Amino acid sequence: MDLGLKGKNVLITGAAKGIGRRIALAAASEGANIALHYRESEEAARETAKEISEYGVKVSLVKGDIARLEDVRQMKETLDQELESVVDYIVNNAGWTQMKSFFKYEPEEWKREVDVCFYGVLNLVHTFMPEMIGKNQGKFINIIGDSARTGDRNLIVSAAARSGTISFLKSLAQDVGRNNVQCNTVSLGLIDQGALGFNEATLDKLIKQYPSKRLGKVDDVTAMILFLLSESAEWITGQVVSVNGGHSMLG
Ligand SMILES: NC(=O)c1ccc[n+]([C@@H]2O[C@H](COP(=O)([O-])OP(=O)(O)OC[C@H]3O[C@@H](n4cnc5c(N)ncnc54)[C@H](OP(=O)(O)O)[C@@H]3O)[C@@H](O)[C@H]2O)c1
Repeated sequence: MDLGLKGKNVLITGAAKGIGRRIALAAASEGANIALHYRESEEAARETAKEISEYGVKVSLVKGDIARLEDVRQMKETLDQELESVVDYIVNNAGWTQMKSFFKYEPEEWKREVDVCFYGVLNLVHTFMPEMIGKNQGKFINIIGDSARTGDRNLIVSAAARSGTISFLKSLAQDVGRNNVQCNTVSLGLIDQGALGFNEATLDKLIKQYPSKRLGKVDDVTAMILFLLSESAEWITGQVVSVNGGHSMLG
């Protein structure tokens, strides 16, 4: 099935490794040109870029802290020079979360999580979406964890920040729908991207909480992202789609 991604410019944040890397490879395999964003993982980003170029598509590397508007604007300047046309679609996969009780936080730590997980989305939208609106075509997909909808005492700050992005993207979807720009959220359960860092006993306990009795695979995520990026998903906007093995079942 042709997803309509050939020749589209797709910016994927935090794409040097993990889930973002695999989304970038999957989109490249459908013929999309990839703007591959990283912040610190430069070597991994270069390796991923090399793999992407094997699909015969263009790949541009951009570095930046999405929490800083000036970095995001610099990313756009770089891409304006490197891509032949505008960024068509964005998958914001970058995130920074900490697992601990709120009472173990220092104020600068909670501010940082909100800066990355909430303001990072606003920075990307404000910088890149006007050109999508101008082109009468665009998609913004934001990846979050289910904790943003269910609450999680150990992910308390990032969950709150990301809950804010759900509401932001719903309102934005109402604003830019007439411009054929779709804004959606993909909400993940625990996905084994090869670096979860839990011991086996903890993993066993976690797996028992899933009706499907397994953790998510990265392919479970890339399949949903590719669908939402495809032409077939143009009438889906303002939604939160869970990829979570049934861990939460929200109406
Ligand atoms: N894996 C899971 O089970 C799971 C569950 C729920 C939600 N999620 C969310 O899904 C996304 C991908 O998860 P993951 O486990 O593959 O990776 P991850 O380690 O959580 O983070 C992905 C990338 O975010 C980038 N990043 C962090 N802070 C940044 C900042 N200030 N500016 C720009 N980029 C920044 C990092 O890039 P650099 O390495 O280049 O610095 C990192 O590689 C994340 O948003 C994560 O919170 C994952």
